[in-house]
Amino acid sequence: MHPSPSAHLPEPSGTRTSRLLTARRPSHLVGDTPVLWVDTPFAPPGRGFHAKLEGANPGGLKDRPALHMVREARRRGDLAPGAPVVESSSGTLGLGLALAGLTYGHPVTVVSDPGMEPAVARLLTARGARVLQVTAPHPEGGWQEARRARVAELLARTPGAYCPDQYRNPDNAAAYQPLAAELIAQLGRIDVLVAAVGTGGHSAGLSAVLRAAFPRLTLIGVDSVGSAIFGQPAAPRLMRGLGSSVHPDNVDYAAFAEVHWVAPAEAVWACRQLARRHYVSGGWSVGAVALVAGWAARTYPAGTRIAAVFPDGPHRYLTTVYDDGWCREHGLLGRTPPPGPDDIAEPDARAVTRWTRCARVRDPLARDRAKAGAR
Ligand SMILES: Cc1ncc(COP(=O)(O)O)c(C=O)c1O
Repeated sequence: MHPSPSAHLPEPSGTRTSRLLTARRPSHLVGDTPVLWVDTPFAPPGRGFHAKLEGANPGGLKDRPALHMVREARRRGDLAPGAPVVESSSGTLGLGLALAGLTYGHPVTVVSDPGMEPAVARLLTARGARVLQVTAPHPEGGWQEARRARVAELLARTPGAYCPDQYRNPDNAAAYQPLAAELIAQLGRIDVLVAAVGTGGHSAGLSAVLRAAFPRLTLIGVDSVGSAIFGQPAAPRLMRGLGSSVHPDNVDYAAFAEVHWVAPAEAVWACRQLARRHYVSGGWSVGAVALVAGWAARTYPAGTRIAAVFPDGPHRYLTTVYDDGWCREHGLLGRTPPPGPDDIAEPDARAVTRWTRCARVRDPLARDRAKAGAR
């Protein structure tokens, strides 16, 4: 039996301020995304979290940094009018850059790999971007490094071409100031923020602004098993969007209170529960974030106000997360996640393969970075 959705609405109560938006340009559709209360089956009624639905943007979460990075590069003179933009993306930033290219008049090339869903490649092409796929992973840095090498090659032979470099560009994190302001306006107070980590952009940008307003904010990072970001050994990953085989400079390690690694079967379970019980759902990062935010809602004291960022919607995952045949082939069905994560004391204590949490977060490259700084 499904619970009555109206019976357990916490503060702030569900309101919809009318936003009779009449946009003159597609970029004006970015932002002012809604928030949805999510409880069962992730948490008991009354103990849920507020999901910020970034899938309501025309392309997804990354419309915000794509527009901001291009705008700032133009302002600084790094990107000349009409010059090409080249970037590595698994899809979401590519969609945002296609929008930025249309908005500011730049041709866009997205370098991806065979893991990009055909629907996303077609959508990017339809929206005017050129999609190039690398064919083999880099021996150490995996697909991500192979994509970055291809971007470097393209930049070297295309005069005036600009790469936003979402892994290192501070404008990526800064782009989320409006999102933070929206969350404050929508929720009033935020105690815990749960965010997936890929480039580190939205967790860093949001937590910086939210912490200025709420100094006791707890930031929980959500990563994929097999991702190297928080000090685990890099391994092949099925989940896209969150996680990385390299260490992005945009990750603000000091901002995190804890990190959770989530496995694909657990994210699939959460995505499908969201779709069934709350209609709204998304892809790998949405499932992983919902699982962890639900755990936080059960574990933190009653009354803790938890915000979770849902980066995109479900459509591009219809042939993976929501496809029984594909999921069965990958052994992802029929596995209900445990009620809580395993715990490890140090982020590199052992290689984890299922939902695991670590309450110590540190930069795995801190020593190398300090040495480079001293030189
Ligand atoms: C669907 C999805 N979720 C989560 C993330 C991670 O966000 P960030 O790069 O801001 O850490 C990304 C990044 O590309 C993404 O595409």
